[in-house]
Amino acid sequence: LELEMPMEGGGEQGRWEEERLKTASLSFGAKKEREKGLKAEREKYQLILEEDEMINFVSSAVIMKGTQDEKEQTALSQAEVQKQSIQEVRRSLPVFPYREDLLLAIQQHQILVIEGETGSGKTTQIPQFLMESGYNDGGMKIGCTQPRRVAAMSVAARVAQEVGVKLGNEVGYSIRFEDCTSERTVLKYMTDGMLLREFLTEPDLASYSVVIIDEAHERTLHTDILFGLIKDIARFRPDLKVLVASATLDTERFSCFFDDAPVFRIPGRRFPVDIFYTKAPEADYLEAYCLVFLTGQEEIETCCELLQERCRRLGSKISELLVLPIYANLPSDMQAKIFSPTPPGSRKVVVATNIAETSLTIDGIIYVIDPGFCKQKSYNARTGMESLIVTPCSRASANQRAGRAGRVAAGKCFRLYTAWAFKHEMEESTVPEIQRTNLGNVVLLLKSLGINDLIHFDFMDPPPHETLVLALEQLYALGALNHLGELTKLGRRMAELPVDPMLSKMILASEQYKCSEEVLTIAAMLSVNNSIFYRPKDKVVHADNARQNFVVPGGDHMVLLNVYTQWLESGYSTQWCYENFIQFRSMKRARDVREQLEGLMDRIEVEVCSSGGDIVPIRKAVTAGYFYHTARLSKGGYKTVKHQQTVYVHPNSSLFEEQPRWLIYHELVFTTKEFMRQVIEIDSSWLLEVAPHYYKNKELEDSSSKKMPRKQGKAKEELG
Ligand code: CDP
Ligand code: MG
Repeated sequence: LELEMPMEGGGEQGRWEEERLKTASLSFGAKKEREKGLKAEREKYQLILEEDEMINFVSSAVIMKGTQDEKEQTALSQAEVQKQSIQEVRRSLPVFPYREDLLLAIQQHQILVIEGETGSGKTTQIPQFLMESGYNDGGMKIGCTQPRRVAAMSVAARVAQEVGVKLGNEVGYSIRFEDCTSERTVLKYMTDGMLLREFLTEPDLASYSVVIIDEAHERTLHTDILFGLIKDIARFRPDLKVLVASATLDTERFSCFFDDAPVFRIPGRRFPVDIFYTKAPEADYLEAYCLVFLTGQEEIETCCELLQERCRRLGSKISELLVLPIYANLPSDMQAKIFSPTPPGSRKVVVATNIAETSLTIDGIIYVIDPGFCKQKSYNARTGMESLIVTPCSRASANQRAGRAGRVAAGKCFRLYTAWAFKHEMEESTVPEIQRTNLGNVVLLLKSLGINDLIHFDFMDPPPHETLVLALEQLYALGALNHLGELTKLGRRMAELPVDPMLSKMILASEQYKCSEEVLTIAAMLSVNNSIFYRPKDKVVHADNARQNFVVPGGDHMVLLNVYTQWLESGYSTQWCYENFIQFRSMKRARDVREQLEGLMDRIEVEVCSSGGDIVPIRKAVTAGYFYHTARLSKGGYKTVKHQQTVYVHPNSSLFEEQPRWLIYHELVFTTKEFMRQVIEIDSSWLLEVAPHYYKNKELEDSSSKKMPRKQGKAKEELG
């Protein structure tokens, strides 16, 4: 791998140096008195900490109650030691010296934008400052949103530990299908999507005294919608404090959007980072480096295997190398590993998605390797197709990635692309998600909040007009909106379920087709993200055989149902999963999701009942939700019915060989081509039954049917 210093090498380095020297630039008073005041305030804070420690001491004592005296003694002192070091770490964070300034600013301003380098303590410390100064008095809550589930969970766990409480008590988190909070919870970390849903039950967020919209720079769809809603409620809730926290990106825009809210800058503690580019573009970046930013789970796993394999070959020639993956779907115990200290004499390599760009801080990183790609959702508003595509990341992302190398000491960042590519082929910043995603979900939610005029909603960056229109059209086709664009009764019920409108409709349709038992299971299995089947590289044949054994007529949805049913019959057994190459963790999650959905059935008044083995009603219910996703087999292969786009059955599908004439797919993914993932066979007449206003008889005529050879599938309606 050939590397060169960039043409503007000195410049790059100079820029980093410059940032290092930058000092606090607070946009409001208290600057002068800071030096004087700080000392006194520190002393005050010291006291608070000591009180904290007292409480921790007491709570540890409670936990240890009932054990023998001696044990109790050691356990207590161990806890004390740990506590002390935690408090030391807290004090060492860049945000710590600004505690009082920050609290003062929050007191003086209703909305405050907070900017600070990743790792400066925004997410973990600021909510604690607020708790320590009584913002949770009278049972009021402090909410802090995160764009990613993983971040919400790991940060909540960390803060619970720092505060010295059990996770889920005073400090908790809430993510979709998983609520780890209680009546005692005063500090609640949650995904931005969850706070958005809370508007449904509490439109003015009355139980919150402070809402922190964290990682604002990520500009996820839900965060962007929150901006508009929260700006609105802040007007008639003067007591509500709003903090918009962001890495050092875009903060002027946030300030501008929130009527020139002041920006509080936490000066970074950044060391210089040397940046190296390759001389020529790197074709195979999995081969080319030894660490870091990749686009997804699959790449990460391959890379980790490669690294481990090479280490094995090198044997004792190199010191021990810890290779640790991190991505959103990684089990949390594995995730925790990246935060644990590296044993002396060994090195740590973290292979991550852009989750480690800003949401998670991993201490001690000196080298960053950046291939310059990420996986991004993109949306075609003409066809309504959403796909995940590996694309070059933005320059802003690349700079964030590089910045990870300079947190504890001077670092180096190796960019596996040319300086030219950086300048000319990368976008300045990432396009906000709202401009490249399906808006069905959000539109339904806003409509249920009574916001009818979406065109004039206060968007920071408005979505493309045609995307909005398409979302309205789709919701109309699903029956969620009437011809005036108003929410229907069905729409209101659909919005109650925390899932996409199509899935929601499918679940509601199961009422009519009397198969909600089965459809709930299918919905839950579809929600766990294609990670049901386990396929280890050294047991591919066994795994594929095991998978084949689950195949039943009808399609992949029916296979998923079959897997779940068998697992249930095994008594939710771990051993059963192991023997059948099924991921236990995914199944467990599916079970949780299913239970939650079943719990919601009551609220939307759907009776839970079973079709008793008849698979037609089940597939009709799927069709009622997903009729948009219909593909028909014609001469050249499958084409979508509405847009005549060529699509392919995924090789993993149970219908890959069978190739029935009419299919409904759950989702499209673009890898090497447009693959339909999770497909089910349908009868075209069902389309007229479930969506007569959307499909015309003519569209569904099989003009070429006589010439098409059709394998007689096993999937006959009589079966089952
Ligand atoms: O939000 P921001 O990026 O400003 O920083 P933070 O997430 O509050 O992190 C502050 C410190 O807490 C960092 O040094 C992290 O390494 C540490 N931390 C941790 O050890 N474990 C976590 N799960 C989260 C943060
Ligand atoms: Mg943070």
